[in-house]
Amino acid sequence: IQGVEAAIAAIARGAVVVVTDDDDRENEADLVVAADAMTVEIMNFMVTHGRGLVCAPMESRRLDALGLRDMVPEGNDPLGTRFTISVDLEVPGSTGISAGDRSATVRALADHATTATQLRTPGHIFPLRYAEGGVLVRRGHTEASVDLARLAGRAPAAAICEILADDGTTLTGSAVREFAAKHGLVLVSIEQLAAYRRTNEPLR
Ligand code: 5RP
Ligand code: CA
Ligand code: ZN
Ligand code: ZN
Repeated sequence: IQGVEAAIAAIARGAVVVVTDDDDRENEADLVVAADAMTVEIMNFMVTHGRGLVCAPMESRRLDALGLRDMVPEGNDPLGTRFTISVDLEVPGSTGISAGDRSATVRALADHATTATQLRTPGHIFPLRYAEGGVLVRRGHTEASVDLARLAGRAPAAAICEILADDGTTLTGSAVREFAAKHGLVLVSIEQLAAYRRTNEPLR
């Protein structure tokens, strides 16, 4: 299944979707789920079948409230991906890496009741700072995932993980469509999402 509305519906029901960026950008496909819909099973799926880095795109004001400052304030990443310091939910006896630990961290980041004192840094989840305006101002997976969560009526935070092929290379092209079909996941591009937002939110 393809398309923005199918992706929004999937995110609304707590499912994982596949989001591709522009061919001339990263040309990567990320697994995306709303942060407040994260489960142990979904985290295990992401690390098993995605195999990239699990990150948590979030709004800047929320990151500030949680004391999660930029990892490298004067970074030189050409795409400008804004990693903050990494984080775990503080749970006595946990290390932060298991699927259960990482899913709990992601859910905590989306929960407004969570405070900075409940977090441990550095940790095993990598928050990413969303650019206000979303895919209309920056065509990254950071913005696409938060836009999808917001459009789906969920907390404006997500978890994402790149998909690597079995041989370790980045999954691209028809292999991405095959992956989505095999796992029954909706596939959407950032190009499609930006076009949808331009049509449906003309004043933003
Ligand atoms: C973190 C990354 C990924 O590419 C992720 O998709 C976020 O980056 P961007 O918003 O630039 O697409 O580098 O694993
Ligand atoms: Ca990247
Ligand atoms: Zn560790
Ligand atoms: Zn990306």
